[in-house]
Amino acid sequence: MRALVVDDGALRVEQRPDPTPGTSEVIVAVTGAGLNGADMLQRRGFYPAPPGSPDDIPGLEFAGEIVALGSGVTSWRVSQRVMGIVGGGAQAEFLCVDETHLLHVPEGVDDISAGGFPEAFTTAHDAVITQGSLGFGERLLVTGAAGGVGTAAIQIGRLFGAHVTASVRDLSMADRLSTLGADVVIQPDDVASQGPYDVVLELVGAASLENGVLDSLATNARVVVIGVGGGASTELNLLKLMATRSSLRASTLRARTREEKAFVTDAIRRDLLLAFGDGRLIVPIEATYPLDQATTAYDQFVAGGKFGKIVLLPKSEAT
Ligand SMILES: NC(=O)c1ccc[n+]([C@@H]2O[C@H](COP(=O)([O-])OP(=O)(O)OC[C@H]3O[C@@H](n4cnc5c(N)ncnc54)[C@H](OP(=O)(O)O)[C@@H]3O)[C@@H](O)[C@H]2O)c1
Repeated sequence: MRALVVDDGALRVEQRPDPTPGTSEVIVAVTGAGLNGADMLQRRGFYPAPPGSPDDIPGLEFAGEIVALGSGVTSWRVSQRVMGIVGGGAQAEFLCVDETHLLHVPEGVDDISAGGFPEAFTTAHDAVITQGSLGFGERLLVTGAAGGVGTAAIQIGRLFGAHVTASVRDLSMADRLSTLGADVVIQPDDVASQGPYDVVLELVGAASLENGVLDSLATNARVVVIGVGGGASTELNLLKLMATRSSLRASTLRARTREEKAFVTDAIRRDLLLAFGDGRLIVPIEATYPLDQATTAYDQFVAGGKFGKIVLLPKSEAT
């Protein structure tokens, strides 16, 4: 198969052996594979794939069609359209995935949207709903809100009946963020004056926590740190958490166990799949590229200023 390979900072398309399924695994012909911050880190030699995932083929999310089944798989059949998260290896013509980590692609959803859905929406849902326990009518703040996870979180906030504040550097994105469900769109310097917030999805990290987030917490607020592009180290005034009885959590998705990934996949099936199928949830697409143009795609991701997702299309040049 053709696969994108990371080699000392360079990205190349190489021929690799086709994967074969283990007992409970499925082989998927990949039609769409969204880019994520983790891929950018992996290209630079950080954030290695967890054991069991290809170590030099990036890609955490995919959509595609089932082409082969392990001997113990009973829930899926060949030719079904599926999507899901993997620990790595999605940016290739074929991948191998555990059957419990698969979701049906709803009818009417195209390969590009489906390929950009799983990682962003699973991350956002896990952080805001499972960890943040966002309730109806609560106030949600999403920082770094114009990217893949942020645009997912805004829509999830709306779906769950929250009042959503989106913080972005570039206010020219305000109209598109409002269309997705943001009630208020602000710039980072206005976070404190627009609070308080019950749940904060912190996608920027240290720079944002220091710039108003900890000064704008409601009583019993939940702050969930998922991204640290704006720095991983900061000095915290713990009194600000104590005074509001707030909690600060942080997590990653990639290295979770088979059972934990099955759990988050079930949560998406239960809470989001219907809304993805009927159009209440969408994946804003900034750009798509064939695998051969992955370097351009990665460079565009790193340059910033995008709205939503960049998706690679491995099948578009498959022979
Ligand atoms: N923990 C996990 O399991 C997990 C899973 C998925 C993603 N993540 C992380 O979560 C973050 C968001 O993911 P994503 O896919 O949404 O990334 P993305 O599409 O690149 O979006 C990141 C957003 O954050 C903004 N941003 C970056 N640095 C900023 C700063 N210093 N101040 C203000 N805004 C800033 C960017 O704005 P500009 O366009 O203006 O730069 C962009 O809109 C990333 O750091 C990613 O690595 C973590």
